[in-house]
Amino acid sequence: MQRPERPVPLAVTWSHEPSGEVVREVHRVADDWGLPLYERPHKSGLRKQLGREAHVFLVRGGTGWRLVDAEGELGVSPGLAMLRLKRLEAGSPMAEPLLSNAEVRAGDVVLDATVGLGADARVLARGVGVTGRVIGVEASLPLAVLLSEGLRLEPRWPGSGSIEVRHGRALEVLRAMPNASVDVVFFDPMFERTLGASPAFAALRRFADHSPFNSEAIAEARRVARRHVLMKSSDPSVFPSLGLEALVPPAGAHVFWGRARGDGKL
Ligand SMILES: C[S@@+](CC[C@H](N)C(=O)[O-])C[C@H]1O[C@@H](n2cnc3c(N)ncnc32)[C@H](O)[C@@H]1O
Repeated sequence: MQRPERPVPLAVTWSHEPSGEVVREVHRVADDWGLPLYERPHKSGLRKQLGREAHVFLVRGGTGWRLVDAEGELGVSPGLAMLRLKRLEAGSPMAEPLLSNAEVRAGDVVLDATVGLGADARVLARGVGVTGRVIGVEASLPLAVLLSEGLRLEPRWPGSGSIEVRHGRALEVLRAMPNASVDVVFFDPMFERTLGASPAFAALRRFADHSPFNSEAIAEARRVARRHVLMKSSDPSVFPSLGLEALVPPAGAHVFWGRARGDGKL
């Protein structure tokens, strides 16, 4: 295979002192995702190679995967969803607005159309239980690979269904899906929100796809969904133009939910 011209947008590599297993895994990920591999010399730094070999590196270290760019790093872990998952274990699944607003049931198939770092997807996976599954769609290639490969290294949260990550834009993925092929489609797009943003969210923004969402994706989602299309946003004014009905928020809410009935027929 011809060596791609450098710098490439994204290359995969290993930590500065990798085990044989890590090197084999990096080769497997490069093959599976068709990514260029940077054969990092033993104990060498990576910073100098940014902008020379690649603009972003996906690095496999001893504990997991992380994205590295000129501004810093982004890893993936169950930590972002942990508090919510623990709360679910302590009480009713309906205590979680994502699950109650989507009316998620055991055995459901849920499409998380903007999966990001997968915090919501992990909660959805717990909601659908071991007989259900979540399909996560992510338009940003670095984020899609980071989450997909990160999930392979994590033990699945007890009582959860599987999470499969697909790289692609929600509209194109939905267009290729048959009518009524999932129970719920969920969107959490990149609206211009900064309110209460965590450092992890700030890092996510750098790697995320920011192209605007339109009602076409929602129309496709309604065709594909048997039950609901649900959207989360910090700005409820976005819902009407997307054909979504704003759900009544609890007092003092910072997060708002818009929903439309799925019109896919079985
Ligand atoms: C706000 S984040 C989602 C966070 C996610 N709910 C979580 O719990 O980690 C939005 C994500 O959607 C992705 N995205 C934006 N537009 C998209 C599209 N048209 N199709 C698929 N993913 C998209 C962004 O790259 C970003 O990762």
